[in-house]
Amino acid sequence: MTATGLSCGSCGIDLPRNSKFCNECGAAVATATTPAEYKQVTVLFADVVHSMDIATAVGAERLREIMTELVNRATGVVQHFGGTVDKFTGDGIMAVFGAPVALEDHAVRACRAALGIQDETVRLAGDVKERDGLDLQLRVGLNSGEVIAGEIGSGALGYTTIGEQVGLAQRMESVAPAGGAMLSESTARLVGGTAVLGETEMVRVKGADAPVAAHRLLGMSETHRDVGRTESNLVGRRWEMAAIESLLDRAIDGYGTVVGVVGSPGIGKSRLVREVAAMAAARGVDFFAAFCESHASDIPFYVVARLLRAAFGVGDLDVAAARTQIRARVPDADPEDLLLFDDLLGIADPEVKLPKIDPDARRRRLTALVNAASLARQTPAVYVVEDVHWIDKVSESLLADFIAVIPQTRSVVLITYRPEYPGALNRVPGAQSIALAPLTDSETAALVSELLGDDPSVDALGQKIAERAAGNPFFAEEMVRDLTERGVLRGIRSAYFSTAGVAEVSMPATVQATIAARIDRLAPVAKRTLSAAAVIGSRFDPGLLETLGIEPIVGDLVLAELVDQVRFTGGPEYVFHHPLIRSVAYDSQLKSDRAELHRRVAAAIESRDPAAAEENAALIAEHLEAAGDLHAGYGWHLRAGAWATSRNMAAARSSWERARTIADTLPTDDPNQVAMRIAPRTMLCGIYAAWPG
Ligand SMILES: Nc1ncnc2c1ncn2[C@@H]1O[C@H](COP(=O)(O)OP(=O)(O)O)[C@@H](O)[C@H]1O
Ligand SMILES: [Mg+2]
Repeated sequence: MTATGLSCGSCGIDLPRNSKFCNECGAAVATATTPAEYKQVTVLFADVVHSMDIATAVGAERLREIMTELVNRATGVVQHFGGTVDKFTGDGIMAVFGAPVALEDHAVRACRAALGIQDETVRLAGDVKERDGLDLQLRVGLNSGEVIAGEIGSGALGYTTIGEQVGLAQRMESVAPAGGAMLSESTARLVGGTAVLGETEMVRVKGADAPVAAHRLLGMSETHRDVGRTESNLVGRRWEMAAIESLLDRAIDGYGTVVGVVGSPGIGKSRLVREVAAMAAARGVDFFAAFCESHASDIPFYVVARLLRAAFGVGDLDVAAARTQIRARVPDADPEDLLLFDDLLGIADPEVKLPKIDPDARRRRLTALVNAASLARQTPAVYVVEDVHWIDKVSESLLADFIAVIPQTRSVVLITYRPEYPGALNRVPGAQSIALAPLTDSETAALVSELLGDDPSVDALGQKIAERAAGNPFFAEEMVRDLTERGVLRGIRSAYFSTAGVAEVSMPATVQATIAARIDRLAPVAKRTLSAAAVIGSRFDPGLLETLGIEPIVGDLVLAELVDQVRFTGGPEYVFHHPLIRSVAYDSQLKSDRAELHRRVAAAIESRDPAAAEENAALIAEHLEAAGDLHAGYGWHLRAGAWATSRNMAAARSSWERARTIADTLPTDDPNQVAMRIAPRTMLCGIYAAWPG
């Protein structure tokens, strides 16, 4: 490693960080690229309607001007929503949401971008109409699914996305109405609660024999994501509810509190908030809530304005009525301060000039106004701010000032966040904190059986779901949802029956995207550690990673709650925090990269401790088999069987069975096939004779 970590590939000299060319020999510098990966994304195509006709009417030069303007504006919108423009297609763009960096809400962002692009087009079309007398219109198509994303052609052509899902997005664009956006079924499913969609339309697209389902995108709904869902009964969480209940009782008596609820995605934070809302309602306590959103974390005042609008009861009023209401609620406030407050809430009268005050003073005055109102309030209230790991900086610092007086009020402020949130709101003096642990095995089983019902045909599936969900209720629900959508489960909620086997349980796209987004937030070195660890297995030690030539950056992974340390003495060991995290880290790697790693892991296990090779034989065999190296895997399975014979008959049997399975899958023209088929069978016969059953 050089001081900057960068050196010229041609002459070897050390280079300043971020150099594009060598300052000694002038060669282009190739920076390390991240390997290509499988990603869940939403692909967006936007195309100008009848661009050929426009070219004919105005000439190529003017067309180029119009296209440049359009592409610039569309690119701005795409970037605003966290997407990347993949390419200019000639008369439009292709954009991707969810690669290079995974986004758990890629489909929602793509929908917002589609609408934003149409708005920009309408604006530009006004100018074009005036100047050229032409109608400029755009079609937009969206599709979601798995693609391979990465550099192509040794990086010369840049980063791009490949897969049949890209083609379907383009097909959706081709059937979209001029000025509108069309979503494929998979995108529609992901945005169900958030977007307003047209009825299902069956459309014919190129390359498909049968018509495919599509939906018009009509708009985005501004109500809360959780509205209108069917809830399972609450399982567990008894002490958490009891704790919040007693904090609420104390608040009613005049001793307010701030409570942080921390937990990973899907563990039940929002659910707890809904239970608290019901608790507040049952006691006649006012309840106000606002939530942060991942696409709004750069929008200043986003969540603080929403919370205050709710708390001051102006959420549904028009701006003039809202201003009147505010003045009724804080009658003694300084008129200048009220103007600042209107501005903060987004209800300012554009005719009235804002007082000129420096930002610090402005903040002090707003804090004084809000805090005076909180202290004056005699009736108890619960305020909730959800998902503050996405809070914008301005809201965060204002809220931190506002909640400072809560202990002297009759209110409870509840904030929820994921473990990675490092911010100011979870460090309030005197605040309580509740960490939501995974549901216990019996709680998970209860939840799954409520979701599935008790038909005997779903027993085995239910067990598998409970096992894979590992205490995360969202994952359990999503797996059930996925199975019903794929028709594996039939019937209705709580009374399903199944026609298929257990192997059908796979990872739904929503869960995968949530986890992938967390993984992509890691620095590249930490991500590399995680990918390699996923190949090693659910339990791993940093020493083995080092043997593989990978610098183990485990601290970051522990902080992000992706892995947990399980052994502290005699060389640390780690396990994946959730089995699905390992699956995502594993499945996103290209099969060829993964095979190579498996091969190296097998070699590393063998070379690290040659004396224990027999003991580790079963593990080595697994890795070689996963690497696709069937002959070597077979050999190690036999060694594992031989080693286990005198120790554990069940283990020996399983090794020989694995060897037999490999031998049976070898092509018949393999010269060793016959001998390989016989050997494990001979061993198995011996066992069956000695250990029937
Ligand atoms: N204790 C529980 N009992 C039953 N269902 C639960 C429980 N906790 C969460 N759920 C359900 O699991 C899903 C995910 O929970 P949610 O509260 O949205 O997670 P989070 O906000 O932590 O990401 C929701 O549908 C919720 O109703
Ligand atoms: Mg939530």
